[in-house]
Amino acid sequence: MKALVIGASGQVGKSLVSLLRREAWEVLGTYHTRQIAGLVGLDIRDQKAVQELIRTAKPAIVFLPAALANVDYCEEHPEEARAINVEGAIHVADEACRVGAKFIFFSTDYVFDGLSGPYGEDDEPCPLSVYGGTKLRVEQYVKRLSASHLIIRTAWVFGYDGDSVNFAMQVYGRLKQGTPVVAAEDQWGNPTSVDELAEVSLDLVRKDVAGTLHVAGRDLVTRFDFARRLAAAFGFSPESVRPVATAALSQRARRPLRGGLKTEKLRCVLGRATMTLDEALRDLCERWPDPSHA
Ligand SMILES: NC(=O)c1ccc[n+]([C@@H]2O[C@H](COP(=O)([O-])OP(=O)(O)OC[C@H]3O[C@@H](n4cnc5c(N)ncnc54)[C@H](OP(=O)(O)O)[C@@H]3O)[C@@H](O)[C@H]2O)c1
Repeated sequence: MKALVIGASGQVGKSLVSLLRREAWEVLGTYHTRQIAGLVGLDIRDQKAVQELIRTAKPAIVFLPAALANVDYCEEHPEEARAINVEGAIHVADEACRVGAKFIFFSTDYVFDGLSGPYGEDDEPCPLSVYGGTKLRVEQYVKRLSASHLIIRTAWVFGYDGDSVNFAMQVYGRLKQGTPVVAAEDQWGNPTSVDELAEVSLDLVRKDVAGTLHVAGRDLVTRFDFARRLAAAFGFSPESVRPVATAALSQRARRPLRGGLKTEKLRCVLGRATMTLDEALRDLCERWPDPSHA
């Protein structure tokens, strides 16, 4: 089977490509600005280039982790966010559909307003930010396009990736430099191991699951709790992490506060639960290249 991973230079795409290669799939991956050997360049805003790539590659599966995923940047650059996250994603969805490939779209817990989370797959979305709005638009489009496609909503993705600014890498970088970490004590979500996200995504493809599914870590925690547990896992004092209210962070985009995703449907589909945060942190430390961390 041949898979195309669009956005293979990002943390989720990278993990997907290395898993697919380990599992002996034929894989083609793309980058946009961060050139990586073995990947091909693609800007999903260029509809012709998307069509050419998919028609030539003829994949059976198209994964689309590519997006402008910086929530505050999207808020400040709404046109660019829509061009990439909505129009670009639609170019890929349309062409995947045209060649009969299964399309896997990665979406977010930020489609919800965070007034009463955690949320199930059938709860009403109501995004607070430009970013959340762009992801919801594509969800709606994909649902109309084909019943066989899969929308994976995930949250707070983390893992070891020297090129990524995911939350774990940020916390580690700051603590290593001796800079204190502040983290919101009123934002709730499910930290999700990037490697488990990739593994579960592939399991869902193998089972030919369609529709919308939440793929996220089992535990719901605050950012502050997440940061303290990361600090402890890396061998730093959890006391170096200080709590702060979201209102004091002056973030450009509004965050869903009581957010998070319910994962019961996934447990039924897979026959197992995703990792607890403690399990995911142990897994992170095993994959970390520097065993002494701190
Ligand atoms: N990270 C999270 O916590 C989180 C939470 C919920 C949902 N998600 C969703 O999960 C998906 C993957 O996130 P991630 O953390 O892997 O993001 P990421 O590390 O920022 O990677 C984004 C990828 O998109 C590519 N890209 C950006 N603009 C593009 C364009 N115009 N054309 C083609 N490719 C483009 C990037 O390429 P270059 O780097 O080469 O420019 C990169 O490969 C996203 O759809 C995101 O919305 C993420």
